[in-house]
Amino acid sequence: MNIYRIDKPFILTIFGASGDLAKLKIFPAIYALAEQNRLPKEFYIVGYARTKMTDQQFQKIFTDSIKKANKEASQKIIERLTNHLSYYQGQYNEKNDFIEYRKYLKTLTKSKKIIKLAYFSVPPTVFKDIIKNLGETKTGSSDDLRLIIEKPFGEDAESAEELFHFVARYFHEDHVFLLDHYLGKSAVQSILQLRHSNRLLNSIMKGPTVSNIQITAFEDVGVTSRAGYFDKVGTIKDMVQSHLLQILALVAMSIPITEHEEGLQREKYTILSALKFIESQKNIVLGQYDGYKKEKDVPASSKTETFAAMRLFIDRESWYKVPIYLRTGKSLHEKHTYVVVEIEKFAFQDKDEEPNRIIFELQPEEKINIRLINKHGAGSQYQSLQTSDSIACTGDFCLPEHGLLLLDVMRNKRCNFLSFPEIIATWRIVDRVTAFIKRNNIKIEKYQKGSKGPESQNNLTKIDGFKWFDIH
Ligand code: BG6
Repeated sequence: MNIYRIDKPFILTIFGASGDLAKLKIFPAIYALAEQNRLPKEFYIVGYARTKMTDQQFQKIFTDSIKKANKEASQKIIERLTNHLSYYQGQYNEKNDFIEYRKYLKTLTKSKKIIKLAYFSVPPTVFKDIIKNLGETKTGSSDDLRLIIEKPFGEDAESAEELFHFVARYFHEDHVFLLDHYLGKSAVQSILQLRHSNRLLNSIMKGPTVSNIQITAFEDVGVTSRAGYFDKVGTIKDMVQSHLLQILALVAMSIPITEHEEGLQREKYTILSALKFIESQKNIVLGQYDGYKKEKDVPASSKTETFAAMRLFIDRESWYKVPIYLRTGKSLHEKHTYVVVEIEKFAFQDKDEEPNRIIFELQPEEKINIRLINKHGAGSQYQSLQTSDSIACTGDFCLPEHGLLLLDVMRNKRCNFLSFPEIIATWRIVDRVTAFIKRNNIKIEKYQKGSKGPESQNNLTKIDGFKWFDIH
C-alpha cells in the first residue's frame, strides 16, 4: 500500500481553536494523521483564539476532544502529539496581535522557513479580519502560507465575489484552499472514480437514458448549538449551496481526462453554471421542524427553513428535460445521504414496473447499488434484482474527511477543493431560489421531529410522474 507521508516540516495554526469545528473535526483529523504515521518529525500546531488559555489547557481540550471522537485513541500517540501543541491568545482584528503572533512563530521554528497553514475554524464574520492581518504581516513573497477556508464562503453571489476580491488583495489564489468537507468524504470521491473507471456505468448516466436524478441528505440532528449561525442562513444556504450541488456536479459532469484540478473544476463549473430553477411554487417545498423556534438562540418568530426540497434542471443538451430533485433537512427520521439515478423505461414497459436505478449511498453506509428487474417464465411475477457492493474505504489507511483534506493542502493538491467560479455559480442558483421564495412568501410547512419531513415533498416528483426513492 502506498502511503503518503509529509516529509517537510510545517506549522498549522488553527484560528478559532477553542470552537466546535476544531474539537469535532480538526483535532481528531490530526490524530488520524499521526496514528497513520503521516506527519513529519518536525511540526507545530498552534491554537489561536480570543479566549485566555495556557498551553496546558489547550492541550487538555485537544486530548479530550480526540478521546471523545475516538474511544480507542492511543494515549501514547496523543501524548506525543501534545508535545507539538501550543496556544496563542489574540484578537482577530488586532494587527498588533498578529505581529506578535508572527514573532512567536519565528521563535517556535527558530526562524526556519517552513510551510505555514492557517485553518479558519472561525465564524465567517471574522474571515476578513484574519485574512487582512495575515496578509499585512506576511514576511515577503517567499512566505509559503496556505489558507484553508471552510464553507460558507459568502452568503450570496455578491458577498462571495466581494470576499474573493478581498482575499485576492492579500493572497494569490494558489495559496487559498476553499474547503467543503463533503469533497473529503471517500464515498463522495467514489462517485467520480466509479464513473471514470466503469464505462458500463457511465455510458448510461446521461440524459435521455436517465429519467431523473434524486439527491437526498437527511439529518437526524437538529440545529444543535449552532442556531446563532443556522437561523440566519437556513437549510438551502447551509446544505444545498455547497454539499448537495457539489454531489450533483460529480454525478452529472463530463469526466475530465486528466486528474488535474483544472479539468475537474472546469467540468463541475459547466454543470453548476447551467443549473436552472423554473420559478413556480410547485418547484420548491420548505419545512420547519416542530419545536425549532424553542431551540436555544432561535427567535420565536423565526421563518428559517430546516427542510428544503426543490426541482431543478441542467440547461445542457446532455441533460435536456431531466429533472433533478434535491431534498435535505434536519431533525428527520434518520441520517442518510444518497443519490438515486433513475433510468428511463422503455415506452412499451408496464406502468407498474420499477425503473432501473443506480444508487450511490454516501453515508452512513457507503455502497453502490444497481437495481434491475426480471420476470419469470410462465408467471407474471416481477422480480427485483440488486447488485450491491461497499465503496467504503477499508483498512488502516482511511482518513476522516478533514484528515484527507489537510493532507491534500500539505501536498498542495487542489482537486478536492472548490474553485471560486464554482462557488459563484452555486450562489447564483441559490440566490435565484431564495429571491423567489422571498418574493412569493413561500409557505414553510411544519413537520414533526423524527418524521420524513413535509408530505408535500412528494408533489415535486409527481409533476413528472416520478416518486422519491426511499432506501429502507
Ligand atoms: C455542515 C452544515 O456543513 O454540514 C451542518 O453546516 C450539517 O448544518 C453538516 O449538519 C453535515 O455534515 P455531515 O458530514 O454530518 O453530513
